[in-house]
Amino acid sequence: MKKETTGKMTALSTKELGPKTWPDFEKLATKQGQCWCTYYQRAKPVHTGKDPLKADRVNHSYKENLVMQGKSHAILVYDGKRPVGWCQYGPKEELPRIDAGRGYRKVEPLITEKMLWRITCFFVDREYRGKGIAETALKGALESIRNQGGGIVEAYPVVSKKMGAVPEWLWFGTPGMFRRAHFKPVAPLGTSLQLMRRTLSSSRS
Ligand SMILES: CC(C)(COP(=O)(O)OP(=O)(O)OC[C@H]1O[C@@H](n2cnc3c(N)ncnc32)[C@H](O)[C@@H]1OP(=O)(O)O)[C@@H](O)C(=O)NCCC(=O)NCCS
Repeated sequence: MKKETTGKMTALSTKELGPKTWPDFEKLATKQGQCWCTYYQRAKPVHTGKDPLKADRVNHSYKENLVMQGKSHAILVYDGKRPVGWCQYGPKEELPRIDAGRGYRKVEPLITEKMLWRITCFFVDREYRGKGIAETALKGALESIRNQGGGIVEAYPVVSKKMGAVPEWLWFGTPGMFRRAHFKPVAPLGTSLQLMRRTLSSSRS
């Protein structure tokens, strides 16, 4: 994908997270305050004590192992060679913590034979925000899901106005991002989030 942009950006492209792109993800994770985005990948919390450096080491190596085993999915967005944003997605089994959410547990269970996918996190380099990088990452994730057989895709965007005003609380994305990608609202998740879904056909047939 090539896209002409204004300002600093010249050519946007996307790549799948994997062993080759792991160092690029490391750069982004360092920028996002050493958050290795493992929260939704663990069914239960792990206790690393009060030392933030220990938590950082534990989560870093947990994530690296998942990536090396092909058990962690995400799309990275690049401006030229520079990684500038990402979107974490994956099959339900890879992101089990969502099931434990108080709001999510109140939603009528989804009965389907289709594969269920989740989109749990966005991050965009501060210098690149407000330029559609998150939407580019989302498009890449949806294309990738299609290429892996499609199914039902879930998202949990932030509806709270208070949270929506603070970019650091918008890791789940905005309802607008998902509406524009043809997701439909399904149910509120408490007062802050909303469950949205869309069905994606496979590109394999
Ligand atoms: C939320 C975030 C992903 C948006 O990325 P982006 O590339 O700037 O977003 P886009 O330009 O594609 O726009 C998507 C939406 O984000 C909104 N947005 C972008 N910058 C924003 C800002 N500074 N404040 C509030 N909303 C903002 C846009 O208005 C748009 O909303 P809409 O759908 O209602 O129209 C980005 O601000 C970010 O990375 N925030 C930090 C999230 C984080 O900390 N993640 C890691 C958690 S460990």
